Amino acid sequence: MEKMLALAQVKKTDVVYDLGCGDGRIVVTAAKKYGCKAVGVEIDPECVKLSQELVKKEGVGHLVAIEAKDLFTRDLSQADVVTLYLLPQLNVKLLPQLAKLKPGARIVSHAFPMEGIEPDQVVRMVSKEDGVEHTLYLWTTPLKKSK
Ligand SMILES: C[S@@+](CC[C@H](N)C(=O)[O-])C[C@H]1O[C@@H](n2cnc3c(N)ncnc32)[C@H](O)[C@@H]1O
Repeated sequence: MEKMLALAQVKKTDVVYDLGCGDGRIVVTAAKKYGCKAVGVEIDPECVKLSQELVKKEGVGHLVAIEAKDLFTRDLSQADVVTLYLLPQLNVKLLPQLAKLKPGARIVSHAFPMEGIEPDQVVRMVSKEDGVEHTLYLWTTPLKKSK
C-alpha cells in the first residue's frame, strides 16, 4: 500500500482516488502520510462502514471522503492519482473513465495489469507486512496502447 502511493509519487496537492476502497486503508494512509485529499469509492455497505470508521479513528475526515457507490459511475476528472486492486477484467472495464483523467495523472494497480495498455513501470516487491511478493503496475496518462 505504501509502495503504491510512493510509486505514484503522491504530493500534498494531489487528489487520490481508491476505486473499491475496502476498509479505507489506502485513502487514510495517503491523507496521513502526504496530507493530500483522498476519495474512497466502495459498493459494499460493510466496507463503506469500515472505511468511514477508519477515517474517523485516524482523524482525517477533513481530507478523506468515502462514497458509497459503484466505481463505474464515478467521474474521475478531478483525480491526480487512482489506485486499484480489482480483477483484470474490471481494470479494462474502467478504461473509458481512465481515458478522461487529466494528463499526467498516475494509475497504480496492485496485482493486476490492464490488458492492451502498456505500463510505465512494473515493480515486484516483497511486502514487510505479509512477507509475500506483490506486483504493482504504474501507468501515466495519456495511456499508451501495447504494441
Ligand atoms: C481487493 S479489495 C481492495 C481494497 C483496497 N483498495 C485495498 O487495496 O486495500 C476490492 C474492493 O473493491 C470493491 N468493489 C468491487 N466492485 C466494485 C464496484 N463496482 N464499485 C465499488 N466498489 C467495488 C469490493 O467491495 C472490495 O472492497
